[in-house]
Amino acid sequence: MTIDPLIESDLDDVVRIERDSFSVPWTRKMFHDELAGNPFASLFVSREGGTIVGYACYWVIFEELHIMNLAVSPSHHRRGIASAMMTHAIAHACACGVHEAMLEVRASNVPAIAFYTQFGFQKIALRERYYSNPVEDAMILRRRSLDTVNATHSIDDQKALHMTKAVSG
Ligand SMILES: CC(C)(COP(=O)(O)OP(=O)(O)OC[C@H]1O[C@@H](n2cnc3c(N)ncnc32)[C@H](O)[C@@H]1OP(=O)(O)O)[C@@H](O)C(=O)NCCC(=O)NCCS
Repeated sequence: MTIDPLIESDLDDVVRIERDSFSVPWTRKMFHDELAGNPFASLFVSREGGTIVGYACYWVIFEELHIMNLAVSPSHHRRGIASAMMTHAIAHACACGVHEAMLEVRASNVPAIAFYTQFGFQKIALRERYYSNPVEDAMILRRRSLDTVNATHSIDDQKALHMTKAVSG
């Protein structure tokens, strides 16, 4: 698996995975605007055998890492791809002096909540009726102390970091 910066020509594949993953998917223009017009945004893709199998978009802003979007192609779930991308994002944020990460997730998104929880995120608030189609609450999750490997996740963190290092170089 490789992790590379997302470029414009990746967007067809990214938008396809996005539509497979969310009931209210980001549009191609939303990805384009993040890529071309948001100085706080970082976007990257993960590939297996040259095929894009996942992507992430995050902001490093106000001394926080905000995970804005993260998805893996359904046929590639549970292979550690999201873990590798999350570790990549956290390593970048730590290098920028950021120590805390935040995100919003649909309250019914059990797989994502399980993923983030085992990655050290904890629920800190609920935003009622935040999402549409279907209307539902958002859970606000936070992970503090980004630079310390989470005790419950140390082995996976190390494994994913190794994968990320193998990718970058
Ligand atoms: C959430 C998502 C990104 C996880 O991607 P992934 O590559 O499958 O995740 P990983 O393989 O790195 O999973 C790491 C760990 O997270 C937990 N986890 C991931 N998916 C899970 C699921 N469906 N059920 C329970 N736990 C899960 C497990 O602890 C897993 O470790 P294990 O496979 O050894 O048990 C993926 O399910 C996805 O793309 N979902 C649709 C988009 C989405 O909801 N994005 C998040 C929006 S905030």
